[in-house]
Amino acid sequence: QLRGVVALDGPSGTGKSTVARRLAGKLGAGYLDTGAMYRAITVAVLRAGVDPSDDDAVAAIAERTDLHIGDSPAAAQVRIGDDDVTVEIRGPEVTLNVSAVSAVPRVRELMVARQRSIITDVVRRLGGIVVEGRDIGTVVAPDAPLKVYLTASADARAGRRTRQDAASGRNATIAETRKDVERRDRLDSTRTTSPLRPAHDAVELDTTALDINGVLNRLVGLLDERG
Ligand code: C5P
Repeated sequence: QLRGVVALDGPSGTGKSTVARRLAGKLGAGYLDTGAMYRAITVAVLRAGVDPSDDDAVAAIAERTDLHIGDSPAAAQVRIGDDDVTVEIRGPEVTLNVSAVSAVPRVRELMVARQRSIITDVVRRLGGIVVEGRDIGTVVAPDAPLKVYLTASADARAGRRTRQDAASGRNATIAETRKDVERRDRLDSTRTTSPLRPAHDAVELDTTALDINGVLNRLVGLLDERG
């Protein structure tokens, strides 16, 4: 049984989400997809017709968005009020705008506070939680006993994203996806507030040559080492 937090960070296309969900399922732990929270705020921003680069307007939307997110690996549903936005948050318009929204300091402050309270609650109930994102090891849960920073080559990441998109009915070429993935990583790693970077005590794991089971085995190995 997992005790405490496993922090999984890294750019998109590293297999983070699939691995985080599977690991949580295997351990009987909770699961939190923090990217889904920034995506949901982005949905609210777009619906309100607010310019994603207008920090104050974006912050105001984040303050009043009634966001709900599941904390189980089986059903990670995302809602705004009663409205299920689980599918909408994966849409291309959201993906295009989420980095601008997530760079707003007030948005991060609100989300990090929510994430910490969800983590506390789930750890109390289930003993442990796998949390995935960009700043989990550095900001959200700096005391996590296991922090892993997943990487993969740009080609591998673009390939995975393209296949994932195709599986959910969105068809883009690898070249387009690669541009999009690189653009988002650049924005996420250069923002002022909690940029994407490995925590000093994170284990870096290159997933380029590994499949999902390969990555899972490495994570389980790391957990075993830590007792
Ligand atoms: O993980 P996912 O690709 O769904 O994340 C979407 C976006 O949300 C990222 O590109 C990043 O801009 C933002 N994000 C973040 N901090 C997190 C998780 C996601 O800024 N902890």
